Amino acid sequence: MCEEVTLGMIKAAATRIQGQLHRTPVMTCSALNRISNKQLYFKCENLQKTGSFKARGALNTLKTLLETGVKPELVVTHSSGNHGQAVAWASDALNLPCTVVVPEGTPKVKCQAIQGYNAELVFCTPTPTGRKETADRIAKERNGVLVHPYDNYNVIAGQATIGFELLQEVPDLDYIIVPISGGGMTSGISLAAHYMNPECQVVAVEPEGKNLQNCIDAKERLWDNPPQFLNTIAEGIKTQQLGQLTFPILCNLLEKVITVSDKEMADGCKIIAERMKLVVEAASGAAIAAALSNQCEFMNGKKVGIILCGGNLDMDALPWQIVN
Ligand SMILES: Cc1ncc(COP(=O)(O)O)c(C=O)c1O
Repeated sequence: MCEEVTLGMIKAAATRIQGQLHRTPVMTCSALNRISNKQLYFKCENLQKTGSFKARGALNTLKTLLETGVKPELVVTHSSGNHGQAVAWASDALNLPCTVVVPEGTPKVKCQAIQGYNAELVFCTPTPTGRKETADRIAKERNGVLVHPYDNYNVIAGQATIGFELLQEVPDLDYIIVPISGGGMTSGISLAAHYMNPECQVVAVEPEGKNLQNCIDAKERLWDNPPQFLNTIAEGIKTQQLGQLTFPILCNLLEKVITVSDKEMADGCKIIAERMKLVVEAASGAAIAAALSNQCEFMNGKKVGIILCGGNLDMDALPWQIVN
């Protein structure tokens, strides 16, 4: 299916991160089961170290590099926040210097966390191209190793451990709903599901304007260039285009794409705070919104995994307070 990310690599990633990262809980909520008409299983990556699943891919990638004898002079990455925090945290844990490029306007809470993990923070123009060019230039000038947020097979194998753990706990899931941006997490979870329970189908949830279903159906990158960020409150999933490595994986494995509005995501965050006492960011709200939307009625009565991908919220700007 994907020779570059095998079940063996996913298991090795799970072993590599064990002990340094949390095995996050899988929670249930009878009220949300009733409201959604589904049996929901929430994989709580909002409770992961650094506040999102991104720590999995970052730690797996850096530890794999070190195992192969490469000790980077500098670790460099670009990120809308969570991956930056994760790479900063993993670099700090492994005693490697790190520089993170973030778009101007990235939430304060994420910037402070990156600096809190002792990484250098560099701002760039808020476009995908600005982000990539700035990180590439720094890596070149300072002999750094770039850890891409999604287009890297070790990152994908690290994110796959979310699916690996979830399916170990609930092996007979029918669906898993995954918020998507560049597609590293969705690719990893789709591969884990493919290897562990091929009956389990992965559904991606996107903000408005991404147009992923059409691209998947056509198996073609129909997006306009240069790449754009989407206009959404969910900064974790604002990259419009999938990666060069993740798109082909998902053309093969993805079952369906659900699109949700900012308002639906914000309502998703609010209902899970009320009902489950969990703090999640808008990208996680997207998965809850999808489960509650009539677009997912075809899952009624089924066992559905929901990936609560992150919890890094600015407490002074809660999603349901800032949405229009
Ligand atoms: C909270 C959160 N959810 C989902 C995603 C999407 O992950 P991917 O780019 O691997 O699709 C990100 C990526 O930054 C994120 O930070």
